[in-house]
Amino acid sequence: MQVITQEINFVTDYIHKISGVKLDESKAYLIESRLSEIIRREKCGNYRELCLKAQTGGNPYLREQIVDAITTHETLFFRDNAPFEALRKLVIPHWIAEKSKNPNSRRIRIWSAGCSTGQEPYSIAMTLWNALPNIFSWDISILGTDISDASIKQASLGRFTEHEVQRGLNADLLAKFFVQESAGWRVKDELRSLVTFRRYNLLDSLMEFGPFDAIFCRNVAIYFDEKTRSNLFYRLSVRLANGGFLFVGSAESLADLGREFTPRYYNQILYYQPNLK
Ligand SMILES: C[S@@+](CC[C@H](N)C(=O)[O-])C[C@H]1O[C@@H](n2cnc3c(N)ncnc32)[C@H](O)[C@@H]1O
Repeated sequence: MQVITQEINFVTDYIHKISGVKLDESKAYLIESRLSEIIRREKCGNYRELCLKAQTGGNPYLREQIVDAITTHETLFFRDNAPFEALRKLVIPHWIAEKSKNPNSRRIRIWSAGCSTGQEPYSIAMTLWNALPNIFSWDISILGTDISDASIKQASLGRFTEHEVQRGLNADLLAKFFVQESAGWRVKDELRSLVTFRRYNLLDSLMEFGPFDAIFCRNVAIYFDEKTRSNLFYRLSVRLANGGFLFVGSAESLADLGREFTPRYYNQILYYQPNLK
């Protein structure tokens, strides 16, 4: 079904309000291709009617289905590699030096904010496992959150298809951290136990989370408008522990945000640290 000019602003405003994702009129094709199936299923006459139905709450899952359909969940294991290299070569040695002196401080908290189907938090977990000597002497918790219910369900199961594991995992990592099942691969329980997942909208208050030693928020805010994006990174900066590390996507920069973060480089790998408040 075609989205008509008169309703496009209504639809894009609604999507922006519930997810932060900013679509403009040029994205009519995206709205049509991703929402037309829901329109048909919900027997709505047009896109405006669909949004109104979701808003008035007749079907509590409708809003989630719209968000799921409209957001981009593209991800892969060890995406862009660089942040995981910085984690392995810079951040983890720093934590070992700082935290292992005192048995009460051997605690690492990491947040993958906008984790999609879980490849990012599991990549973080594998990196920690391989780089931390005696991993079970550490108290480790990696939190993966995403607005998409379907993505969080898949991430929680830790099940991936052959195609998904082929994107970013080498044979050694696959053999070490996954078990083969009839329909693909499952993350081994020991690795799974390091990660918890939760559906969460980054537009909501983040006050219940943290403090984190590192936050990965990559390829999420690129779909937001400027105000939502800068507000998100400000709120994330508050959830980072002093001296914490923030990684953003390879095409993202916080240069325009001013004073909240100091950009730092490790072998040309960019990461950010919050300025002390
Ligand atoms: C392109 S994926 C990025 C996944 C992973 N961080 C990576 O870089 O591979 C973007 C994810 O952000 C999620 N997302 C978009 N808006 C969100 C919001 N308001 N709150 C939480 N997650 C959101 C989407 O559901 C999607 O799974």
